[in-house]
Amino acid sequence: MSRSFDVVVIGAGPAGYVAAIRAAQHGKSVACIDEWKNKDGKNAFGGTCLNAGCIPSKALLESSELLHRAQHEFKKHGINVGKVALDLDAMQKRRASIVRQLTGGIAGLFKANKIEGLVGHGRLLAGKQVEFTPVDGDVETIEAGNVILASGSSPIELGIAPFDDDKIVDSWSALEFDAVPGRLGVVGAGVVGLELGSVWARLGSQVTVLEAMDDFLFMADRDIAKVAAKEFKQQGLDIKLGAKVSAAKSGKQNVQVSYDDANGSQSIEFDKLIVAVGRRPHTDKLFSDDSGIQLDEHGFIVVDDECRTRVRGVFAVGDCVRGLMLAHKGSEEGVMVADLIAGEIAEMNYDIIPSVIYTAPEIAWVGKTEEEVKKSGRAYKTGSFPFAASARAKAMEQTVGMAKIISSKDDDEILGVHIVGPMAGELIAEAVLAMEFSASTEDIQRTIHAHPSLAEAMHEAALAVDNKALNFPNKP
Ligand code: FAD
Ligand code: NAI
Repeated sequence: MSRSFDVVVIGAGPAGYVAAIRAAQHGKSVACIDEWKNKDGKNAFGGTCLNAGCIPSKALLESSELLHRAQHEFKKHGINVGKVALDLDAMQKRRASIVRQLTGGIAGLFKANKIEGLVGHGRLLAGKQVEFTPVDGDVETIEAGNVILASGSSPIELGIAPFDDDKIVDSWSALEFDAVPGRLGVVGAGVVGLELGSVWARLGSQVTVLEAMDDFLFMADRDIAKVAAKEFKQQGLDIKLGAKVSAAKSGKQNVQVSYDDANGSQSIEFDKLIVAVGRRPHTDKLFSDDSGIQLDEHGFIVVDDECRTRVRGVFAVGDCVRGLMLAHKGSEEGVMVADLIAGEIAEMNYDIIPSVIYTAPEIAWVGKTEEEVKKSGRAYKTGSFPFAASARAKAMEQTVGMAKIISSKDDDEILGVHIVGPMAGELIAEAVLAMEFSASTEDIQRTIHAHPSLAEAMHEAALAVDNKALNFPNKP
């Protein structure tokens, strides 16, 4: 007799495992199927985020930033540490250990919530049946009351620069280099390019980033992108804009890259090349032809605002559906879907999803950029506050950047908040909450912020919207 569950989730990344936990909290019987295998050959839950994305990248960003500060900043604080040396092996062991602890944590959460964690491949068949092919054992057909597809995404491969897992690599391999490349090329100045470019530059690589677009960080507010571009240049990241890569060839010792820019055809040599030009939804062998699932022209599973596919009782969440490819977006979709399955009212606010780039300085935003607000035709006002005027930032020796708030002229509703500076990824939470509660800048103006704190930059930026900043001259 085949097994049956109220809910079967395919994929245990941040979208799938969170959906499974919430469904179990509703008292549903739940199975979560995942086939992820790490480079050591071991299976692990957690998907891209925990194994090859958010978590290992943040571990290395932290370690490399500490090295950089010990080398370049400690002296200013009056701390002499002698020669600071990199132990890459130890740094990588720490990264791997954090990943192990957190992925093991998901297995623990599954147990605690009585979720059946199934290791192997899942495929949706017609009639809400799921074919499960375990890593070892016989194929099984599982009956499901509801199915949640959470199969994630994988790096886009360029035909002109195919991955060889040695010289031309994707973001996952670039997190696991066992030696610092002397000359590192990165195709794409997006989030991966900037984060991993920063890691290896701090560890000693000479980093060149080739970006096809003419605008740097086109998705960010222009004021913020300007500050970030200047700072990354000072840090030694050579970001070439309008650079269209036409070929990359791996040799024994290096990679030869050709690209075209405003000055014509160029050629450049690297020891390693990271290709980070975006990710595509991963739906290989995820459903049978007669399952009723449809893909859009970009390969995303077609869903509505509630993540319902065209098949009743089958949902899809996370990177495999439209929208930002961010862990927290997928997790919240997972929660929404599990709540809907349990018969509750649930919805996602797709307009208020924070984005964070964990470089130094960090870059974070929520809502609309000034350019988007301008384009919408709504009358608006802006206020900003530089971290150079923040007492806490000065004490931290991290004064680069600013907080900027955009609000509507008619009712003062906050439309967008953009931060480049220390801990921007933490500071943005105040803005997200404020916007979720439809706050005005006056609400933030009247909210007491601790002194001295980085959060005061948010307070002062809100005051600056009405020319009331206290610790920085207002606009004339
Ligand atoms: P995934 O995490 O990709 O998980 C999908 C899982 O489904 C995988 O384990 C896969 O093996 C499994 N699967 C797929 N098909 C099947 C099948 N048929 N049967 C069984 N199992 C299957 N986002 C952030 O918000 N913050 C960050 O700081 C951040 N940093 C990142 C850094 C890097 C280097 C990268 C590459 C990405 C980063 N992201 C970050 C993006 C984030 O990792 C993704 O948005 C997130 O992992 C998507 O979650 P998901 O659950 O939809 O998919
Ligand atoms: P991305 O979409 O952020 O950036 C890709 C960049 O490559 C763009 O700037 C694009 O113009 C450029 N590009 C595309 N084709 C090119 C070509 N042929 N030559 C040169 N440049 C080219 O994608 P990325 O960095 O690969 O990240 C993938 C996803 O992972 C993103 O959607 C992001 O949301 C997520 N992510 C999130 C992180 C975070 O939240 N901190 C960290 C890392 C990734």
